[in-house]
Amino acid sequence: MAEQEALLERLRDRTARVGVVGLGYVGLPFALEAAQAGFQVLGIERNPERVAKVNRGENYIDDIREEDLRAAVESGRLRAQVPFDGAEDLDVIVIAVPTPLTKNLTPDLQYIVSVTRALSEHLRPGQLISLESTTYPGTTEEVMRPILEASGLKADEDFFLAHSPERVDPGNKRWKTKNTTKVVGGVGPRSLEVAIAFYGQIIEKVVPVSSARAAELVKVFENTFRAVNIALVNELALLCDRMGLNVWEVLDAAFTKPFGIMPFYPGPGVGGHCIPLDPHYLEWKAREYGFRTRFIGLAGEINRSMPYFVREKAWRLLNQMGKAPSRAKILVLGIAYKSDISDWRESPALEVIRLLQGDGAQVRYHDPYIPSARRAGLDLDSVPLTAEALREADLVIIATAHRKVDYHFVVQHAKRVLDTRYATRGIQSDKVELL
Ligand SMILES: NC(=O)c1ccc[n+]([C@@H]2O[C@H](COP(=O)([O-])OP(=O)(O)OC[C@H]3O[C@@H](n4cnc5c(N)ncnc54)[C@H](O)[C@@H]3O)[C@@H](O)[C@H]2O)c1
Repeated sequence: MAEQEALLERLRDRTARVGVVGLGYVGLPFALEAAQAGFQVLGIERNPERVAKVNRGENYIDDIREEDLRAAVESGRLRAQVPFDGAEDLDVIVIAVPTPLTKNLTPDLQYIVSVTRALSEHLRPGQLISLESTTYPGTTEEVMRPILEASGLKADEDFFLAHSPERVDPGNKRWKTKNTTKVVGGVGPRSLEVAIAFYGQIIEKVVPVSSARAAELVKVFENTFRAVNIALVNELALLCDRMGLNVWEVLDAAFTKPFGIMPFYPGPGVGGHCIPLDPHYLEWKAREYGFRTRFIGLAGEINRSMPYFVREKAWRLLNQMGKAPSRAKILVLGIAYKSDISDWRESPALEVIRLLQGDGAQVRYHDPYIPSARRAGLDLDSVPLTAEALREADLVIIATAHRKVDYHFVVQHAKRVLDTRYATRGIQSDKVELL
């Protein structure tokens, strides 16, 4: 096929023009990586502020170094725009838009569908379209393919269509976009070949699977694996609380076994755009096959119950101090969904705050990465972490452990600390209560 050969040639000599739709946590690092590999990259992003920032070389994603972004923009290899105009000139288009859930925990594919529709208007023979958003098995084949083929062009013949899940772990210093193995599946053999050739130019190692559906399942399984194992240690934390045992001590000792076990830690729940959401994509799709994914349901139930457990522990501590929750002043430390990052989407700390506010408590927060929290039912500013702010609170709840926070200082000045992350490891004080 002439179209395929021409594209493979342009991929190998890196003259292919690459588009990345959605310049968020996934899309921007990938766009930068592709530009650094020598490709000409156009980011298509509906948020004009993000577009303007990229074009000025200003970074807004934790994992990217601003000087790298600026260098890519100044070299002319990376630029961004809002409209899809000119998408027909692109050889490869990577899609990294959000895949949220509806209120009823069903997949919300509105972003994928609207981007696919927009791209179908610019589709031309010889293009590769690769979906990187996390989704249920069948999205590329059953949802995107018909929209694109309505143009009259056939997938795997006239154009190429693949799924390659993004596995980036925000904040991870060792594993980045480039050195994290990339799984690729095509809707047919030609699509797979082209997708391998493309990703092989940018990512250190590419692992092919036999279909786009298999690639989609790989990613949702990985996130389900985490959700289930976190739920398992969370359940252990609930049991240890009943038994009067220290879950952290038990886990520390268990993880000294050099084989057959893997570290996972309990906490106030799970957050971020992946672990709380993605397994439900699979749960929903499994129903079409008359199959109930029991581990996913159970893990979701346990993980979502954790903020309620934190609230219950807070009540107990306040009770010991003779304080009614409705009159308590509480300082929550860390509202990001995990350590050392600024992403607070779906963070369990938010649920803890909402619950305590619902009890009438006066809740403040400090997070060195998040100056203000004005969505998801919150309307708060981060307060400075001073001795006075700590002393004023009846209870300090460590919801997310950031390395920037001095926990010795926290314990020294707080009246009482509920530590849901074992951030106070090594600090001996009877002020501290662990999860
Ligand atoms: N954040 C992670 O850690 C992570 C890791 C692996 C996979 N993923 C998956 O990658 C996908 C993207 O996640 P993210 O965290 O990068 O999301 P994000 O919200 O950070 O970025 C998505 C971007 O897409 C843009 N966008 C939305 N609709 C658009 C449209 N119609 N046209 C152009 N741009 C549009 C948004 O404005 C936003 O900037 C999701 O499916 C997610 O599950 C995320």
